[in-house]
Order: sequence, then C-alpha cells, then structure tokens
Amino acid sequence: MIALGTFALFAAVLTNARPVPHPLTLVSRALNDSDIYANWPTYDQLPLPPSFPTKAAWGVWGADDELGALNHIRNVTILEAKSEIKLGRTFNLNLDLSPFAGYQDDIITLNTQISTQFDGLRHFPYSTNSSQSTYQFYNDLIKFDDIMAPGGSATLGIQNAAQKGIAGRGILLDWAGWMDSKNASFDAFNATTISTVELDGVATWQRLDPGSFSKPGDFLVVRTGFTKQYRALSLQAQEVLPFRPGDDAQFIGIETPDATLRWLWDKKLALVGATSPRLNLCR
Ligand SMILES: *[C@@H]1O[C@H](CO)[C@@H](O)[C@H](O)[C@H]1NC(C)=O
Ligand SMILES: *[C@@H]1O[C@H](CO)[C@@H](O)[C@H](O)[C@H]1NC(C)=O
Ligand SMILES: *[C@@H]1O[C@H](CO)[C@@H](O)[C@H](O)[C@H]1NC(C)=O
Ligand SMILES: *[C@@H]1O[C@H](CO)[C@@H](O)[C@H](O)[C@H]1NC(C)=O
Ligand SMILES: *[C@@H]1O[C@H](CO)[C@@H](O)[C@H](O)[C@H]1NC(C)=O
Repeated sequence: MIALGTFALFAAVLTNARPVPHPLTLVSRALNDSDIYANWPTYDQLPLPPSFPTKAAWGVWGADDELGALNHIRNVTILEAKSEIKLGRTFNLNLDLSPFAGYQDDIITLNTQISTQFDGLRHFPYSTNSSQSTYQFYNDLIKFDDIMAPGGSATLGIQNAAQKGIAGRGILLDWAGWMDSKNASFDAFNATTISTVELDGVATWQRLDPGSFSKPGDFLVVRTGFTKQYRALSLQAQEVLPFRPGDDAQFIGIETPDATLRWLWDKKLALVGATSPRLNLCR
C-alpha cells in the first residue's frame, strides 16, 4: 500500500524547505504526551474555533503539526500490534510497477499518481468555491503558491510520513467478499458507494465486533473489488478506463456524508486506504 520509492522521490524534490509562518498558536489543543487523548475534541466539537474550515482538525495535534492522524501511532500502538502477530506472514499491498520486458535493468520514469499511492496532507486543500484563491491546507501551514513555486516549501510533504515511519496494526474490511457472499452484484467502474453501515456489516460478517474492531492508531483498508474487475479487462480497456466521458468516469468509493467522517473520527484511525482509485474521503 505504501510505496517507499515514492517517498524518496518526494524528499528529493522538496529539499529547499522554508518555514511558513502561520497564526494558529492560540487555538490549538493543549497536548499532554502522557495522555494524548486528554482534551480530545468530539466530532461535534470540530473545528476547534468556528473560524476554521468545516470540520477541520486544525490545531488538534498542535499548531505546527504536519502529521495529522498519523499522530495516533504511538510507541505503545506498535508494541500492542506486535503482540497480536500469530502467523508471521507478510502481505504486499502494492500494485505492480511493471517494467518493460526484455531489459536487464529497470529505468523507471513515473508519475507518482499511478499504481499504489499514499497521499500527503498537501494533496487536497479545503476550498469554499474550488478556486485556487480559496485553497487552505492543514493547520493553515502553507498556501497553494508555496507548493507550486520552484524550490518552494516542503511543509506538509509526504516525507513527513516517511520520516515518522508507519508501522502498526492493519485491519482489512473485505467489502467485495461480503458482497460476493450475498451474491450481490456491483459495478466498481461506476459511482457505487460504500456506507459505514455496510462497513459495520462487513465487520460482523468477518466475526469482528463493529463497536470495537479497531483501536486508536489502526490502519483501515477496504477491499472494494476494483482490482479484480480491473484485471479482468484487456490492456487496451484498462488504458481507456479513466478517459470515459462525462458522468461515466466514476469509480467505486466510500460515501462521504457527515456520518462517515464521524465514524472515522471516533475510531481514531491513523490512516485509511482502499483498493480503488479514490477512497472519496476528506481528511
Ligand atoms: C497529563 O496526563 C497525565 C496522565 O493522565 C496526568 O497525570 C497529568 O496531570 C497530565 N498533565 C497535565 C499538564 O495536564
Ligand atoms: C518512542 O519512539 C520514538 C521514536 O521512534 C523515540 O524517540 C522515543 O524515545 C520513544 N519513547 C519511548 C517512551 O520509548
Ligand atoms: C472564490 O472566492 C474567492 C474569495 O471570496 C473569490 O475571490 C473568487 O472570485 C471566487 N471564485 C469563484 C470561481 O467563484
Ligand atoms: C449464491 O449463489 C450460489 C450459486 O448459485 C448458491 O449456491 C448460494 O446459495 C447463493 N448464496 C446466497 C447467499 O444466496
Ligand atoms: C452507473 O450507475 C448509474 C446509476 O445507477 C446508471 O444510471 C448508469 O447507467 C451506470 N453507468 C454504467 C456505465 O454502468
């Protein structure tokens, strides 16, 4: 799921870091290292001051924070995850980066938006009207111009996640397997939406308790059935799939009403991922 090569590339591009001043000092949560959920805001208490964007988690991890939900991963989270290992098996969650046949060496020039990717906190801005002039990024640490300028800021770059290191407990909710078990058909190449009510149903089907299957700091991965449907296509059909016209250019994803955001916030997940092009989630 997490391509370390991608981190290295980003880090190389973003070496000319420069700090960006910002005004959040007075509105961040008081942090207590020995009790990280002291003063933890409920979903209804977000955003901390009403002047922040809708449901923004700005200031929740401190005014200068660049990690967001990855802060849920503590040393103790990793130690507890280790104690749950029973079989010691490893699973590669990355899709292939297939090189051309017939070469001994791989020379890879790639768009980091292909294959498996992990988005950083500067990937999507808040925006009131989709115009660049209104873009706002996590903790208000950067402006859009800070990202676009040559030699611009590295603030909120994905290198932060690489430097923290991501280890812990992952939970797979096999939504596609649950649908198959019910003989229910779905189209992963359309705007099929997955609700949190369904995800709780998948947990129950997997003999997990929907109320307690996750712990703070967990990684949630949802299997949407996209890759199975995608791999059944011819190479040519795979190439044109993203370029379907208009309303047909849709993919399966998790629906994004308030209920989904509340579900995620309450679970204190460190990250979420899916086996489809978009998870359709806000941070
Ligand atoms: C931090 O949390 C610990 C453990 O709950 C508590 O004993 C301590 O008083 C807290 N410190 C502050 C400054 O609130
Ligand atoms: C937790 O881990 C970090 C880095 O991984 C380390 O700097 C820190 O000392 C650790 N804390 C404890 C209490 O072991
Ligand atoms: C979006 O909002 C900004 C700030 O209010 C305004 O300057 C801009 O013209 C708006 N753009 C559009 C496309 O409405
Ligand atoms: C699903 O279809 C299979 C094959 O037709 C059938 O054996 C099975 O009972 C069906 N399961 C459900 C839950 O309908
Ligand atoms: C996608 O789903 C919509 C709504 O259910 C339907 O109208 C449309 O025909 C579907 N498109 C394709 C390509 O299956």
